[in-house]
Amino acid sequence: MQNLIDQLSSVLGQKYILTTDEDKAPYLTDWRKRYTGKALAVLLPGNISEVSSIVKLCAENQVAIVPQGGNTGFCGGATPDSSGKQVILNLKRMNQIREIDVANQTITLEAGCILQTVQEKAAEQGFLFPLSLGAEGSCMIGGNLATNAGGTNVLRYGNARDLCLGLEVVTAKGEIWNGLKGLRKDNTGYDLRDLFVGSEGTLGIITAAVMKLYPLPISQWTTLVACETISSSIALLNLFQKRATSLLTGFEMMTQESLDLNEKHFPQMANPLQGKPPFTILIELSDHESEDHVRQLLETILEEAFESQFISDAVIASNLSQANAFWHMREHITLAQAEEGANLKHDITIPLSSLDSFIKETDALMRNRYPGIRIINFGHLGDGNLHYNIAPPIGVDARIFNENNEKPIHELIYAQVERCNGSISAEHGVGQLKLDGLRAHKGEVAHELMMTLKRALDPQNILNPHKVVSI
Ligand code: FAD
Ligand code: MLT
Ligand code: ZN
Repeated sequence: MQNLIDQLSSVLGQKYILTTDEDKAPYLTDWRKRYTGKALAVLLPGNISEVSSIVKLCAENQVAIVPQGGNTGFCGGATPDSSGKQVILNLKRMNQIREIDVANQTITLEAGCILQTVQEKAAEQGFLFPLSLGAEGSCMIGGNLATNAGGTNVLRYGNARDLCLGLEVVTAKGEIWNGLKGLRKDNTGYDLRDLFVGSEGTLGIITAAVMKLYPLPISQWTTLVACETISSSIALLNLFQKRATSLLTGFEMMTQESLDLNEKHFPQMANPLQGKPPFTILIELSDHESEDHVRQLLETILEEAFESQFISDAVIASNLSQANAFWHMREHITLAQAEEGANLKHDITIPLSSLDSFIKETDALMRNRYPGIRIINFGHLGDGNLHYNIAPPIGVDARIFNENNEKPIHELIYAQVERCNGSISAEHGVGQLKLDGLRAHKGEVAHELMMTLKRALDPQNILNPHKVVSI
């Protein structure tokens, strides 16, 4: 392997190939600290021709490549295996914004751009780049596209796939596919772009993309409301969809059990609503007309919601810092879970019409089978996307609890998801965490088609092997 390392060094320059344990360490463990792997080297290419050369050299030597962006993924997709024979290809040096096309309302950018930087650069030109998630300070566009990330604006603007118009990709053979077209329509046969988006580094390496931009709203109003039941939360969502239509840009749900965990670790994040309601909903409206227009609309809808008894309390953020505090409360649940220790994540989607029965039945099954269990259920309710996460009863060691119960808990929840015609991964992807889950729940024909694609596009199985599908 020294020969390969030498060849890679001559492509990248010694500075950008990390081979000591100390240098490699920050790239080897995932954000949740669930997986730690080993790597022959960490490669930091600076342009697409270096990526192409790396792939060609690795293919010749049968060395597998694990693409990596900000390493914030939740499914171990960017972590190598324990063999020490795989290389990590981290895209962080490819972080140029190549163009903002004002007339076309698009941005062309490299895979290593940090999401928050992209939002800021777009805003400087009067545009909204709507992809937004808790990890935006460190996740990268390549990783967002490879996982088809969702986040809090999907309801209005769609997920990473919906925002993507074109891609530049290095294939498993090291060829460069330039699909950087900023077209809203292109029916020239199979959609290659959609094949790579969401493929988690298993079919190609995304090096750049063309993404949609939108006009920046001039006013945003954020409110927290209390709902007694999930069905009243959905009735409220439908009311907002009917009255606010495209002005509705956020509709997030937090159970009180999630907020209790938040308050335990971040006492400053207490719920401002009275009496600890079972469901706290965060709603955001964005407007391009005027402050008064959207504020009045929000008040009118809330009045109607009170009258219809969909909500029992509401607090409208009176300024930007209060609005930010509401969003921080929502986003800190993930951090509170990390503080609490190992937990079991379920990132699921259920059709909104089945959500009420899903939650009632699954909560009951879980509490019956695992007395004292904490169900940290929150998420993007507007998309039917629940983060139905499980923490052990208070005082029980999380690692031991998970070791004994992880599999049956996943099985119970995924069986409920399947019964409701839902999905076991709404936005976090599959990685290595849900490899078995995908095989069991995707459906035989769909799974076989995915394997066929993998075999066709990566016959040597060198791109992120044993992630998503195992051929
Ligand atoms: P990584 O973790 O580095 O990689 C993820 C996967 O993509 C891996 O399989 C990797 O091999 C592959 N990959 C990375 N870059 C490339 C590339 N250039 N080409 C090909 N494959 C590549 N996710 C959501 O969807 N919604 C949320 O609301 C959300 N909230 C989060 C909040 C927090 C606090 C954290 C820590 C994570 C959150 N996530 C969320 C998960 C995570 O941030 C996303 O999955 C994100 O898109 C991953 O981007 P990344 O750059 O960190 O990718
Ligand atoms: C979020 O929406 O905050 C993340 O996707 C959720 C998680 O921690 O499961
Ligand atoms: Zn989420």
